[in-house]
Amino acid sequence: MKVLVTGGCGYIGSHTIVDLINNGFDVVSVDSNIRSSTQLLDGVEKITGKKIRNYKVDLCNLEDTHAVFHENRDIVGVIHFAALKTVPESVADPLFYFHNNLSSLVNVLKCVKEFNIPNLVFSSSCSVYGNTTELPVVEATPLQEAQSPYARTKQMGEQMIQDYSKVNDTQSILLRYFNPVGAHPSALIGELPLGRPDNLVPVITQTAIGKIPKLTVFGHDYDTRDGSCVRDYIHVMDIANAHTKALQYLLDQKNTDNCEIFNLGTGNGVTVLEAIKAFEKISGVKLNYELGPRRPGDVIAIYANNTKAKQLLGWNPNIGIEDMMRTAWQWEVALRDRVLSN
Ligand SMILES: NC(=O)c1ccc[n+]([C@@H]2O[C@H](COP(=O)([O-])OP(=O)(O)OC[C@H]3O[C@@H](n4cnc5c(N)ncnc54)[C@H](O)[C@@H]3O)[C@@H](O)[C@H]2O)c1
Repeated sequence: MKVLVTGGCGYIGSHTIVDLINNGFDVVSVDSNIRSSTQLLDGVEKITGKKIRNYKVDLCNLEDTHAVFHENRDIVGVIHFAALKTVPESVADPLFYFHNNLSSLVNVLKCVKEFNIPNLVFSSSCSVYGNTTELPVVEATPLQEAQSPYARTKQMGEQMIQDYSKVNDTQSILLRYFNPVGAHPSALIGELPLGRPDNLVPVITQTAIGKIPKLTVFGHDYDTRDGSCVRDYIHVMDIANAHTKALQYLLDQKNTDNCEIFNLGTGNGVTVLEAIKAFEKISGVKLNYELGPRRPGDVIAIYANNTKAKQLLGWNPNIGIEDMMRTAWQWEVALRDRVLSN
């Protein structure tokens, strides 16, 4: 069974391709490489022995997107990862985000409809909950004002798929990721931000290795246990496996609605300062960090209730914070060693 993965050259897409292949699926990828190269697909090949074809296509271009679907009309589903994801960048340039993340989704939906693709899995985000006071969040927790244009594209993306699903046969799942971190244990694939990263864990590992001189903790006066933001870090291989399980759930026709939502987090809130301490413990590296001002677009605290994904998808995230940090660190060290040996 063949699956079309958009954004397959990216961080979560590449790890999901590994999990899909390990579970017997064939995969084709579509990625414009606006935020990636094919480097991670080379890593996927080393891990799985399978060479993945990537169509270098901008999904905002309908004609090119249509051509990819036309050539792959035998797919059983689409997993749509492709999007821009940097909160501060979206605050600075909202139209870039609205155009890229929403036009691409409209085009994917048009092709899903035209080619009668039965199943769709969409990368959403816990950012859709905004600054909620109801913690942990369940899927039914009312969504608050989006804190950034990026988060708004995820709220709107979800709504677009929900509206689409009301009048079409496609079965859809919206996966709300909390904070995916870590890397495949082989250290052959991992997070590969182009330019300066914004997410905490790559900033931690890049500071530890010396690529970034100093880490700034954005906000230390929030109403949390140590004043820093609280997040629900979840290992990327656990996130990857949820996609395979979601697709299988749709293929087995176990879904109770034609558009279902699942939270993907561990259920444990970890502060930024606790994450730093966990990293220092497993790596033995003392991080150079400072406490800085709050950053626009950040929500204060969020963590998941993941009971629904566990019960219905049979998903069982079991990789803890120290292994998240350990694999992220092994990946960063492997990247440095590769550069040194070239
Ligand atoms: N990483 C996180 O912390 C996180 C959290 C919640 C949700 N998500 C969502 O998960 C998805 C994957 O995130 P990721 O961390 O793997 O990001 P990533 O940047 O590593 O991967 C996204 C990929 O999509 C591609 N892409 C972007 N726009 C495209 C377009 N118009 N046409 C074709 N390709 C395009 C990029 O080149 C990139 O390779 C995104 O939708 C993101 O918003 C990520």
